[in-house]
Order: sequence, then structure tokens, then C-alpha cells
Amino acid sequence: MNARQFPDGFLWGTATAAHQVEGGNTNNDWWAWEEAGRIKGDDRSIVACDWWRGERYRGDFDLARALHQNAHRLSIEWSRVEPRAGEWDREAFAFYRRVLSALRERGLVPLVTLHHFANPLWVRARGAWETPAIVPLFERFATQVAHELGDLCDFWITLNEPMVYAYTGYVNAQWPPGKSDFGLAMRVLVNMLRGHSAAYRALHRVQPHARVGIAHNLLAFKPAKPATLNRIVVNAQNQIYNRIFLLALQDGRLRLPLGVGRIPEAVGTQDFIGLNFYFSRRVAVDWRQPGTLFGRTLPAQPWGVAYDDELLGWFGKGDIDPDSFYHTLIWLGKYADGKPIYITENGVCDRNDELRPRYLVAYLAAMWRAIQAGAPVKGYFYWTLVDNFEWIEGYALRFGLIANDRATQQRAPKPSAAVYARIARENALAEELIEQYGFSS
Ligand code: BGC
Repeated sequence: MNARQFPDGFLWGTATAAHQVEGGNTNNDWWAWEEAGRIKGDDRSIVACDWWRGERYRGDFDLARALHQNAHRLSIEWSRVEPRAGEWDREAFAFYRRVLSALRERGLVPLVTLHHFANPLWVRARGAWETPAIVPLFERFATQVAHELGDLCDFWITLNEPMVYAYTGYVNAQWPPGKSDFGLAMRVLVNMLRGHSAAYRALHRVQPHARVGIAHNLLAFKPAKPATLNRIVVNAQNQIYNRIFLLALQDGRLRLPLGVGRIPEAVGTQDFIGLNFYFSRRVAVDWRQPGTLFGRTLPAQPWGVAYDDELLGWFGKGDIDPDSFYHTLIWLGKYADGKPIYITENGVCDRNDELRPRYLVAYLAAMWRAIQAGAPVKGYFYWTLVDNFEWIEGYALRFGLIANDRATQQRAPKPSAAVYARIARENALAEELIEQYGFSS
């Protein structure tokens, strides 16, 4: 049977983040945000997927292996391993040693993120990423993690989605610390570049063969109608959201709207490029929206199934658009300049799992096309393994390949998990799947 084959050694995994699955992360700024009632429906993370107390990662990794996955991306919770400045928690490091060993025993390659949105309360009290004081703190944390866990992992992500962190925390004020200050958001980005650069070198000092990168969130902005003003707005959004951080990692110059920040130490600090890609946005000019550079996102267009409130909530953010994934990969392939690209996140929330199988097949077909066209993609991590705590959306949005009954913590793989398992097992996208889900390209 014809199949779109993927390169040998391709990584097929899923991604998670500590605060979204562990439960009981009481010592970080997200827990405080939850306590302050900032989550929709007054939800709270509580025990999440019970990875911490009940060690339920074991069962989840059993399922991942049974589903033919060969990699998993997760994050270390800084507030657990360093609950107070300079104090290392032995129990927490022992926990992460058990987690990483559990992955390795099941043949899953670990990819470990150091910062996935949450900050320890003591780091927040010092201004977190708002001041350069974070840089030596993050460097010390990275060094300690490499010493404690380096025999179990050599594949690292320093930061998850700096742009999302800066935008939601410092422009639209929906995430902690809930500020709305464009200048401060830009300073946060500068400090993130500095923190990343210091952590990159720290990891390499302890572990010379380490592979270190960043998980970049890229969004494909498109003009709603090809009107000139829409195009100008789209170009500005694209430049700020998708380009400035990546370009600064190439030449040490962060091209801010009001000047250039110089971070020479950022040059050459990526061994691979991590891409989190979800959707595109159709944008029309709107002078009332300075926070989005005067662009308004149009309501998303249907993609095959009837929308329930969950899908509508998500589609409010953008269009499902495999073709834009392809074009983003082509651009990123040139940017990568010979370095490997890993899709460190891609996924969709879909309670009834009606759309997810098609989504997977369509995005993976686009990824395959991009690889044929020369994009050096070496692995794909679906977001996410098990339905989990979706930040301010609480538990309402379900991205998992596996459902979780929160009352009993019983897991149930969804139909899409079997589709993904087949692709991972065959390291290929079978023609049959393309036909079944109605794609000809
Ligand atoms: C984040 C994840 C999140 C996912 C779905 C990404 O931006 O890294 O933590 O759960 O999107 O919204």
C-alpha cells in the first residue's frame, strides 16, 4: 500500500507540562491565580492528572508505549525542585528521576522543558521575567537540573512559548501577573532571551553533548481581504509575533517597535528549533485594538464538523489550517539552516473526538509534504497525552488523545489515539487514512 513514509528514527510523541498534569503545585504563580478566581468557571488545577501524589504518569506512559509512541515532552516544575531561593528539594528531584526513568524503561525518549509558563512564588515576588535578576536564577536552576537529571536526559527546552507568555501576562492581562504594559512585555522578552542564553550555556557546561532549544509558538496571520491596510497590520503582527525573537537568536538584535535591544549572548544558542503550531488567523484592521497592533481576528471558518461550545471557544482563536502549517515549516526550514526542527506541540481540543482524527491526518500530511520539500523535521509531539488543566480555560477544553475521568482518574484512549498509534507504528501516513479522512493532497 502506498504510504507517505517519514524519515528513519522519527520521534512520535506527545507533550505535557508539569502544572497541567501533576496536581498540587501550590507554590507557583498559577496556583495563586487559580486561588484568586481567575480561571473560567472558577476551576482549579487541584490534583490535575495526579502525576505527583498518585504517580499516575506510570499508567499514562504504559498507554503511550502501547500506542507506539517513542518520545515524550514534559516539564520540570521549578517551584518543586527549588521551593525557596537556593534550596533544593531532594524529594522533588527523586520524583523527576522516577518519571524520567519510567519513560526510558518504556523506550520513550524524554524531552524536558525547564520553564512552561509557571514561576515559583519566590521568583514572582522578585518580579520574575520583568527584571534581569531572573537571569542568574534561571541559570542556577538549569545547572542544578542538569547535574541532578543529566544522566537521564540530554534533550532540553529552556522556554516554552516566550511570545505567548509575554502577550497573555503583559499585554492582554489574562494570565499572571495580569499586567497590560507593552513596554514591560518587551522587557520580559529581552530577559527571556538572556535567561535562555545563560541556561543554554549552563546545560552545555554540565553536559557538552546536550541538545538545547526553545519551543516557539508561531501563528500564521493572513489578511481577511487583500486590502492594503489589512496587509500592513498582518505584516506588523507577523514581524513582532513570529520573527523578532527568532531573528534575535540569529544576530543578537531584538527589533522592538521603539528601538533595538542588544543581546549578543543569544547568538547561536539553539541546537534545534522547536515549533508549537496550532492555527492561522484572518485579520482585519481595527483601530480600537492597539494591543494586537490594530488587528482584529475574524471568527474562524468551519472545518467539517458542527461546532460545540468547546470547539467554538478554541476557534475563536484561529482557523484550523494545515496549509499554513506547511508554509510555516517551509519558512522555518530555511531559518533553521541545517538544524533539526521538532514539532514540540500541535493539537486540537475536541470533546467528542470527532474532528481530531481528521485534524491529525491533515496536519501530518502537511508536515510530510514540508519534509519532502526539504524542511528538516525530525519529530512530532501531539498536544497532549491526557486531557489536562488548560490554564484559564480550566478543564473545559480537552486536547488529549486519552480521556480522563477526573472523579476516578480512570483513563480511556479516544479513537484518535488509535489513528496516531498506527501512524507512529508504521512511521508513515497510510493512503487509506488520507482517503478515509477525505484529503487528496
Ligand atoms: C501551551 C500548552 C497549552 C496548549 C493548548 C500551548 O500554547 O504550551 O500549555 O495547553 O497550547 O492551548
